[in-house]
Amino acid sequence: MRADTSPARPPSSQGEGRGDWRKALLHPAIKPLLFCAALLPALWLVVAAATHQLGANPAEALIRSTGDWALRTLCVVLALTPLRVTFAVPALARWRRMLGLFAFFYAFLHVLSYSWLDMGLDLPEIFADIAKRPFILVGTLTFLVLLVLAATSFQRTIRALGGKRWQALHRSVYGAAALAVLHFFWMRAGKNDFAEVVPYAVIIAALLGWRVWRRVRG
Ligand code: HEM
Repeated sequence: MRADTSPARPPSSQGEGRGDWRKALLHPAIKPLLFCAALLPALWLVVAAATHQLGANPAEALIRSTGDWALRTLCVVLALTPLRVTFAVPALARWRRMLGLFAFFYAFLHVLSYSWLDMGLDLPEIFADIAKRPFILVGTLTFLVLLVLAATSFQRTIRALGGKRWQALHRSVYGAAALAVLHFFWMRAGKNDFAEVVPYAVIIAALLGWRVWRRVRG
């Protein structure tokens, strides 16, 4: 074992201060707190629906809010690795699976709201809508990618697939995010209103750019 010959630093030094908050994020209470925070939008939607606070068209409000939260959570999931690497915060790796499953959870609520409230769970109608409206087709593809990722996010499948193949498969989360933005873009194309779409497109392009930059740099 090597002797530590580095000079002692006062505990209040900047480096240690930073180490403290990194360690604090590894505290066992942080993950349950994050779980509750990620659940809040769903709880709020339930309360708002029960107390008639979703406006004149509650079905549309539910479909749109759950779609927004699925996309927002997906952006957070994609940001975890760049943040972990850039700021050396190992705790962020522990949150990836949970937040990834939350992205799927909101996407599931979104698809459920659409299928139930918009289409009355009429399967032939739903298939006809997928065939008729390209943005619905893109949303369906997005959901299928997220479904595969959620279904393979457990230790057993990681072991069965092997680490490399599992990682390659889970890189398709970038594809899912790009498809989700295309779905949103296409939906708004009719009204030529992209103000809410552009920030998501920029965030996802920047996060993907960071990955590509790291790979090229070696
Ligand atoms: C089977 C899959 C899907 C279907 C059928 C579907 C359907 C829809 C519908 C009907 C709307 C609202 C259109 C309107 O109000 O005029 C919508 C909006 C949206 N969807 Fe999806 N969607 C699907 C998957 C997804 C997924 C997986 C995501 C995200 C990961 C997503 C994100 C969004 C977003 C962000 C909006 C716009 C919300 C807003 O206007 O603020 N969708 N989708």
